[in-house]
Amino acid sequence: MSNHSEKPANARDDWTIDQGWSDYTADEHVVWDLLYKRQMDVLPGRAAPEFLEGLKALDLGKGGIPEFEAMSDELESLTGWRVVAVPGLVPDEVFFDHLANRRFPAGQFIRKRNELDYLQEPDVFHDVFGHVPMLTNPVFADYMEAYGKGGLRSLDFAALKNLAALYWYTVEFGLIQTDEGLRIYGAGIVSSKTESIFALEDPSPNRIGFDLERLMKTDYRIDDFQQTYFVIDSYKQLFDATVKTDFAPIYDRMQGKFALKPEDVVANDAVITRGSQAYAKAGGRL
Ligand code: PHE
Ligand code: FE
Repeated sequence: MSNHSEKPANARDDWTIDQGWSDYTADEHVVWDLLYKRQMDVLPGRAAPEFLEGLKALDLGKGGIPEFEAMSDELESLTGWRVVAVPGLVPDEVFFDHLANRRFPAGQFIRKRNELDYLQEPDVFHDVFGHVPMLTNPVFADYMEAYGKGGLRSLDFAALKNLAALYWYTVEFGLIQTDEGLRIYGAGIVSSKTESIFALEDPSPNRIGFDLERLMKTDYRIDDFQQTYFVIDSYKQLFDATVKTDFAPIYDRMQGKFALKPEDVVANDAVITRGSQAYAKAGGRL
């Protein structure tokens, strides 16, 4: 979500750019369709119902890369959110300001056919397919706005790392417990075929019940599958635990550091799966 170089010349002060929908090539639309189909081979029965409902409500499978304006009109009628195009990663304060105003900044470019599985920078498939469906859920939509406001506030503390861990372990890599079993709501998982299976079914990672402070002091991997996934019981639980809590004392206690490694399991963890860590021990993605 963060990191940046210089603002590109074509970007506005808030770093938004035109999506340039009519400039996508036929092949780029085909890449979206390929990615969409691959994910839909694995997501029914794995993704959270709210995610799948969001996909449907926004008709993201109608073929081709969605046009942001039309999609945003629909999304705005549901929860007041819109999607704006950005060149890629944007500075933290810009990112937080967009979220705080119910605008989701999405990459405009799409990955190439030879990098369907893994890429460093979030593209339009990760950002739109992965993130936007959950923004149709009213509670999650409110959480995301509050996160943006909390992000702006965190800049006054040396707390960005710990707040970023919250985003990472919920918005990007969150799991939710349902009556039918564990389901995925994190965008980084639902937009990856291999991690959708790994996160739910592989014996390697830990799966641990959500605990705000536990999670915010846990380091995470940005270059490979997670070694721990945190599991919420409901979006309301996530909302209540974060929006109704003053993070200032938490930030003070954490001192901008991670006390726990990604794979750690500690006393008082609500362990759902104690992972073998076999995948990471074997060298991970290599
Ligand atoms: N309550 C947090 C604070 O005091 C703000 C926040 C809300 C952060 C929701 C993340 C998610 O800073
Ligand atoms: Fe993301």
